[in-house]
Amino acid sequence: MNNSDDNVDVVVVGAGVTGLTAAVRLHEAGRKVVVLEARDRVGGRLWTETVDGVRLEVGGQWVSPDQTALLGMLDELGLDTYARHREGESIYIGRDGVRRTFLGEAFPVSDATSAEMERLTKELDRLAAEMDPLSPWEHPDAERLDRMSFAAWLAEQTEDEEARDNIGLYIGPAMLTKPTHAFSALSAVLMAASAGGFSHLVDADFILDRRVVGGLQQVPLRLFERIPDLVRLSTPVSRIDWSDDGATVHAGGESWQARHVVMAVPPTLVNRVQFSPALPPVHAQMRQHQSFGLVIKLHITYATPFWRAQGLSGTAFSPYAVVHEAYDNSNEDLPSETRGTLVGFVSDEKADALLGLSASARRDKVLASLAGYYGTEALSPVAYYESPWMADEWTAGAYATSFDIGSLTRYGKHLRQDVGPVSFASSDIAGLGFQHVDGAIRMGSSMSERLLSS
Ligand code: FDA
Repeated sequence: MNNSDDNVDVVVVGAGVTGLTAAVRLHEAGRKVVVLEARDRVGGRLWTETVDGVRLEVGGQWVSPDQTALLGMLDELGLDTYARHREGESIYIGRDGVRRTFLGEAFPVSDATSAEMERLTKELDRLAAEMDPLSPWEHPDAERLDRMSFAAWLAEQTEDEEARDNIGLYIGPAMLTKPTHAFSALSAVLMAASAGGFSHLVDADFILDRRVVGGLQQVPLRLFERIPDLVRLSTPVSRIDWSDDGATVHAGGESWQARHVVMAVPPTLVNRVQFSPALPPVHAQMRQHQSFGLVIKLHITYATPFWRAQGLSGTAFSPYAVVHEAYDNSNEDLPSETRGTLVGFVSDEKADALLGLSASARRDKVLASLAGYYGTEALSPVAYYESPWMADEWTAGAYATSFDIGSLTRYGKHLRQDVGPVSFASSDIAGLGFQHVDGAIRMGSSMSERLLSS
């Protein structure tokens, strides 16, 4: 059955930040647009929700100074930011299992390990400076770096295991959320280049600088407010019939005719839609080599932010702990909030192990890990929540997708290639801001500019 408003210039599939940015820009330029969204809400991987009386950032939340597209969007939408609580000492648990506190960004490791970490940081900064994140396959050493795992690259660089584990932590568990043996050294350099350099990833005060008042989902919610009648929720697109002249997009028994279709969904979900005719072989192949990482984002709320009284900032790291990083995530923008919330992350193979346990055993493991950082008070939260992205059919992982070893050079140049009237965009295929909201805005904006000039 055709929809009454069935003839449009552009159908945007997905009401995440990428899709909404593209749709708002196209609408403002006078194009007829409809956005079809599978979920019953907008925002995709951004979701600010109150759970058990605590407002949580279930998905993405942080903004860093290099993310100029996101900062520009916050300005445009009239959204304010605030700094994450960071006063006090941070905690590090090393390879020897000893808990140490420290100030600044350098982990309290031996002088030899510290020197190796500094050397590796410089080397990754150098490699990242040689890369245009929009075309990593053109890096002068792309072939070699893409054929070796990041773990193998680290092993080639240094014999210092703790230096390897810590440098690996910044990109493996903390960013791509895959084990360092599962992605290439070239993908690691892309992650660094897309954030303006590896040194930025090492500096938590830079990369996790600010939060948005009211939550980061305010970005898609405010974009949605500009085009509420053009967004159809609970409308998963199941089939797209296309030719060089246009497409018919099918969702929930309805269909829309369009000159262009923007698939503003993660690459893994492009494959869920039936295309007729089928996408060219290289497209079908390419997206089988992109996969989501796995991270469990944990939200643990206490009656008070007790760690502050111990002179701690709440920031904690250890490649050897179940929770490899944690931060004070109390809602500083809510004046009445007296509770303290920690956010922690369990990634890749440690997340596999946790997910094999019952909910209560998982919680016990997480709290024990936090007690290793903050002491026994961490064992008694007033609220505990695990973000459920890995079990959500419209994401199925976190934070984002990346290529397996060798595939960035093999398929990269097809990433943003149209197929007839169908274009592809999402933070997962961004250059600058890759895997981040900044990249989603860049992808949505550049997609709308391209369609407006076509
Ligand atoms: P996104 O996945 O958000 O949107 C795609 C939309 O398409 C979804 O709404 C989905 O439902 C819809 N869809 C899929 N298939 C469909 C179909 N067939 N039909 C219709 N609709 C369909 N970033 C950051 O900058 N700072 C941070 O701190 C974090 N932290 C973070 C934590 C966690 C836990 C996660 C999961 C993610 C982050 N991120 C982040 C990443 C950031 O959230 C992410 O890069 C962007 O929100 C992605 O926006 P997109 O619009 O590209 O995809």
